[in-house]
Amino acid sequence: MNVLIIIHSQTGKTLGLAESAQALLASQGHNVELVRLETVEPIDTRNPTKKKNIDFTNLPDISSADLLLLGGPVWAFRPSPVIMKAIEDLGGKLAGKKVIAFVTHAFPWAWLTGTSSMNAMRRAVGTLGAKVLPGFVLSSTNTVNADRFNKASEQMLQVL
Ligand SMILES: Cc1cc2nc3c(=O)[nH]c(=O)nc-3n(C[C@H](O)[C@H](O)[C@H](O)COP(=O)(O)O)c2cc1C
Repeated sequence: MNVLIIIHSQTGKTLGLAESAQALLASQGHNVELVRLETVEPIDTRNPTKKKNIDFTNLPDISSADLLLLGGPVWAFRPSPVIMKAIEDLGGKLAGKKVIAFVTHAFPWAWLTGTSSMNAMRRAVGTLGAKVLPGFVLSSTNTVNADRFNKASEQMLQVL
């Protein structure tokens, strides 16, 4: 499969999980590309829910992807505005694409902002016609390490 992983990662936690998923998928013979979104203007973390004025320099072409993994951090109880804006910008191109949405967050329990944020992403891509697979939440990212990233990516990709 052609797998495209698109993430927002401000401090590297979502990137760590994405890289682990990329390595696992590649070891299974998939063709995997990972894109860490970059914005024209720096993101204002003091306004963590503001989607306005977010424009990308590297939003990829998703036409040849069989599966998309879309990930980002939880910001202020919601999925990051950056990954949500990317979903908005991809728009109708997501129709028919298989999507796994995932979030990373600091709180220790997924039910506290993680699951709801992941489901907000799933709803957004579902509304655009994507085939929405079960998503994934990585909690307690303040204490994350390579071992946890590897275990989490195995768990996340079990749905395939
Ligand atoms: C502006 C801002 C808001 C945040 N809000 C939450 C939150 O509501 N719930 C939570 O569990 N973590 C919250 N966090 C922590 C991040 O979700 C967590 O550190 C995440 O794993 C960072 O991912 P990244 O390193 O890929 O950017 C917030 C972080 C920032 C910078």
